[in-house]
Amino acid sequence: MKIGVPKEVKPGEGRVAMLPVQAADLVEARHEVLVQSTAGSASSVSDQDYANAGAQMMASGQEIYAAADLIIKVKEIMPTEYDFLRPEHVIFTNVHGAANREQIDKMLEVGLTAIAAEETHQYGSPNSALAGEVGAFEGLRLVFAPHGGSGRHFLNHYGAPAAEALVIGLGGVGQGALRTLLKLGVSVKAFDIDVGARRRTLMQWEDSPLQVFDISELGDHLASADVIYNCVLWPKDRDDHLIFRKDLAKLSRTSVLVDISCDPAGAIETSRATTWDEPVYVEEGIRHFCVDNIPGAVPVTASAGYARDLFDNIKLIAELGALDACRQNDYLAKGLTCCAGELILAEAGRFQNRPYTPVEEFLKRASA
Ligand SMILES: NC(=O)c1ccc[n+]([C@@H]2O[C@H](COP(=O)([O-])OP(=O)(O)OC[C@H]3O[C@@H](n4cnc5c(N)ncnc54)[C@H](O)[C@@H]3O)[C@@H](O)[C@H]2O)c1
Repeated sequence: MKIGVPKEVKPGEGRVAMLPVQAADLVEARHEVLVQSTAGSASSVSDQDYANAGAQMMASGQEIYAAADLIIKVKEIMPTEYDFLRPEHVIFTNVHGAANREQIDKMLEVGLTAIAAEETHQYGSPNSALAGEVGAFEGLRLVFAPHGGSGRHFLNHYGAPAAEALVIGLGGVGQGALRTLLKLGVSVKAFDIDVGARRRTLMQWEDSPLQVFDISELGDHLASADVIYNCVLWPKDRDDHLIFRKDLAKLSRTSVLVDISCDPAGAIETSRATTWDEPVYVEEGIRHFCVDNIPGAVPVTASAGYARDLFDNIKLIAELGALDACRQNDYLAKGLTCCAGELILAEAGRFQNRPYTPVEEFLKRASA
């Protein structure tokens, strides 16, 4: 199979979906690997490194899309890439389909097959912890006075009050945020709905300045926070929120909401995704940081984890084709988003209120 790796075009996205080590393995297995020139440069990988691994370098994304059957990416298909799409394509990337109706429309119109990588991680996304670690760091920066923050240092000095951080959601992202905050000595109040997550967190950080609460207690702690991190994975079909627009009146005017989850219509009603080019906006007088590709800021590290995590599934798709690969691997099937003009990803169908074919039904029918 011809496997294409275009350079990411989303602002601030330096990750690359395949490193030379994986390219060499695929070439060894008699696949052709086509990589866009400079696709790996922000991740410290040169064109020569890919060429040494047996990949063929191409000058433009357009050439990659024209030549390859399987396209491997990090972020969603951007409008500048729409014209390059073909019905024969299998696209394996973080589609984030529910949030992106226009992209889904385009994929259905073209009739290509898309698999959402974010749904296929058996052990959680390898970049979740990075998003928490880097997002936490960025949130602390926004507490500094020149950025509109409270001007409290994140450590206790001279008896002055230190900054107070809330972390909501204690899964992969939340644990990453705690790692940055608690290792720096920041005082944290953490919240989760799940008693298991709360207990695990308390055990792991027992000697740290950490208090852990059930989510029902969040409202009592909003007013004193300098920075609030949202790390909850919010179900796309929920129409309520943890922090509603009206709740922002309770917050200090110098506080900042760092919505690492930044789900559309998610836990924070007023959040909308931003990019590293313009990461912060103000709503109801409160700063919101909602970059939806935070690990893109540390591409050397993030690419290593992402490319490794995707690789087994890339190989499976290259060997069996997209649909048989989905039949073989249930996690891959969970990400099947669309094929031949049919929407399959339930979450996108429900969120966008349009018909979809459940994946089991589609795979059964497609084999008949
Ligand atoms: N901005 C970025 O660059 C970036 C990168 C990676 C992940 N994410 C997003 O971060 C979010 C979290 O990802 P994750 O891997 O940590 O998910 P996860 O499933 O590992 O963790 C989610 C946590 O939220 C808790 N939770 C669920 N509902 C809750 C509620 N109502 N109240 C309180 N807690 C609740 C769960 O118990 C769990 O502990 C996802 O939306 C993901 O898409 C963003």
